[in-house]
Amino acid sequence: MSEIENIAKQLVAKGKGILAADESTGTMTKRLASVNVESTSESRLKFRETLFSSEGMKNISGVILYDETIKQKTSSGKTIPELIKSFGSIPGIKVDAGAKVLAGSPEEKITEGLDGLRERLSEYYKLGARFTKWRAVYNISGKYPSELSIKSNAHALARYASLAQEAKMVPIVEPEVLMDGNHNINKCYEITSKVLKEFYKEMKLNNINLKGTILKPNMILPGNKSKDKSSAEEIAKITIKCLKENVPSEVPGIAFLSGGQTEVESTQNLNEINKINNTSFLMSFSYGRALQQSALKNWGKNIKDTLNTQKIFNHRSKMNGLSTFAKWSSELEKQITS
Ligand code: 13P
Repeated sequence: MSEIENIAKQLVAKGKGILAADESTGTMTKRLASVNVESTSESRLKFRETLFSSEGMKNISGVILYDETIKQKTSSGKTIPELIKSFGSIPGIKVDAGAKVLAGSPEEKITEGLDGLRERLSEYYKLGARFTKWRAVYNISGKYPSELSIKSNAHALARYASLAQEAKMVPIVEPEVLMDGNHNINKCYEITSKVLKEFYKEMKLNNINLKGTILKPNMILPGNKSKDKSSAEEIAKITIKCLKENVPSEVPGIAFLSGGQTEVESTQNLNEINKINNTSFLMSFSYGRALQQSALKNWGKNIKDTLNTQKIFNHRSKMNGLSTFAKWSSELEKQITS
């Protein structure tokens, strides 16, 4: 097995998942402002270091970092990738330059960052990264997403994936159909299917080794403003149907994004998916907000309260770890032990 195939497998190993801590400085500043903490390079490092040194890391297979963080050092002088590796977890890096207005369809976004990517990848490898992430976004609204957005983002995602593999790192490919809107679950299924079809067509064209990739998709959900509510069972069934129909079986694993679901919803839905998973894919998580939200809230109240912030994070990562085995329950959810 090649090195990247091996890393891809480790990232979706049972009992573990990925911590997406790769918020850009702009996004992190908003997150910190929401808990009344001033955003400085020190405060961003302090919160992240608190998570990366917690016991909950035993359920974290890899951490996605942002450019600033991968270059920072802890108070004891370790680099952040060294700290992550000391827990047996793999350092990763977000390499896209963000979603910008799509010329030709200005209501939509195209993810940029291909220029100079080969050089940046080589630098990140030297800093210890062994996997990478690129996120594309699609919104469901009226005539959108357009053919142009679906095709251009698929093209960029596949070109990124090819460069990441050339640099001996696993590409996490994240085509995210946003949950904003009043569409129903069937519309989300229809659009996500279309997006994934086009995306894998481009991956094939770019000669990507699919065994050395991880897909990071949205779950199939009704829009957040829809009057329809779906049960975890319905979400699990339709999500699996969509992935089975559109993702080539060589892909070793799927690490879902949380995308604005609550912490417990994300865990419960993944648990349900693993209960009925009859695909060859390992179904795991790559959560940002759904792993960090409560921990951040507590930290905002008292940034010196490392112990309780870590306790909250440990619980979330443990619950998500259990959901990869379909062993989570609402009773366990209530027992904060670690
Ligand atoms: P959320 O889980 O908060 O959606 O973040 C995942 C992510 O990495 C977005 O790019």
